[in-house]
Amino acid sequence: MIIDKAADVTPAVLAAMAATPDPRLREVTAALVRHLHAFVREVRPTEQEWEYGVEFLGRVGQANTATHNEGVLFSDALGVSTLVCLLNNGDDGATETAAALLGPFWRDNSPRTPDGGSLVRSPTPGPRLFARCTVLSGGAPVADARVDVWHSSPTGMYENQDAAQAEMNLRGQFVTDAEGRFRFVSVKPAGYPVPTDGPTGDLLRAQRRHPFRPAHLHFLIHKPGYRTLITQVFVDDDEHLGSDVVFGVTRALVGGFRRGEGAAPDGGAGEWWSLDYTFHLEPGEARLPVPPIA
Ligand code: BEZ
Ligand code: FE
Repeated sequence: MIIDKAADVTPAVLAAMAATPDPRLREVTAALVRHLHAFVREVRPTEQEWEYGVEFLGRVGQANTATHNEGVLFSDALGVSTLVCLLNNGDDGATETAAALLGPFWRDNSPRTPDGGSLVRSPTPGPRLFARCTVLSGGAPVADARVDVWHSSPTGMYENQDAAQAEMNLRGQFVTDAEGRFRFVSVKPAGYPVPTDGPTGDLLRAQRRHPFRPAHLHFLIHKPGYRTLITQVFVDDDEHLGSDVVFGVTRALVGGFRRGEGAAPDGGAGEWWSLDYTFHLEPGEARLPVPPIA
C-alpha cells in the first residue's frame, strides 16, 4: 500500500502484519501497533523527541550486563511489572494476591542451605533475623518445595552490586520439610535505592521521584504441580511502604517482622528480629522465570 497521509499508516502496518501465523503474536503485535500509534497521535512527539525516546530505549538495552538488568528495572519503575503480576495472579487481578514482582536481582543458583542455616556468607553488620516459614496449599503442608530467598544487606546493597560482600551473600536455597516448613538466619534487610546510574535513574530524577524500595525479603517457591510463587515480604514500619519506587507493596505482603525481646534463639547478644510467615501455593503449572542476572 502506498501511503498518502498520516491516517494511512496504521491500517497499512496492521495489514502488513495480518498474516502472522502465530495467533498470539498476531494479537499482541497488532495491539502494540494500535496503542503505539494512538500514543503518537495523542502526544505528537517532535522528531527530536522521538529520536530521544528511541535512543533512550537503546540505552536501556545497552545498560544490561551479567550483573545488572536495566530492562527489568525500567519495566518495574513504570509499574508495568507489578501490573503484569497482579493481572496474572489473584483471580486475574480481581482479588488480593500474595505474588509480587521478581525484580532484577534474582539469581538461579543460590547455595543450597540446610534448614535453619544462615544466609550470611561474609561479615554483614546489622540486627540478626530468625525466620520461620511454612508453605501450605489448601491448608495442607507442601513438602519438598524449592525455596529461594534473597535480600539486600542492611546497607541496602545486593551482593552482586557490592564488592564488600561475598559471592551469594544473603542468598540461599532451601527445601521444605514434611510439615512444609523452612527456617533460616540472616540479617534484617534495609530499604534501599534502586540503581540510578542508568537511563531509569535519569527518568526518576526528571520526574522528581525518590528511588527507594521499602525493606523486604524476596521468596521464590517452586514445586511441580503448583504455580511458582514469586513474592516479597515487607518490614512493617518502613517509611517507604506507601511510595515504593516500583509499586511492589500490596497489603497482603506487609507484616510479620517482630523485634525480639530477651535472649535470641541462638543465645547471642544484641538486637534481633523474628519473622513468622505462611505462604500459600495454588495448584497449577510450576515455571521458573528467566534469571534477570547470571
Ligand atoms: C528488588 O526488590 O530487588 C528490586 C525490584 C525492582 C527494582 C529494583 C530492585
Ligand atoms: Fe529487593
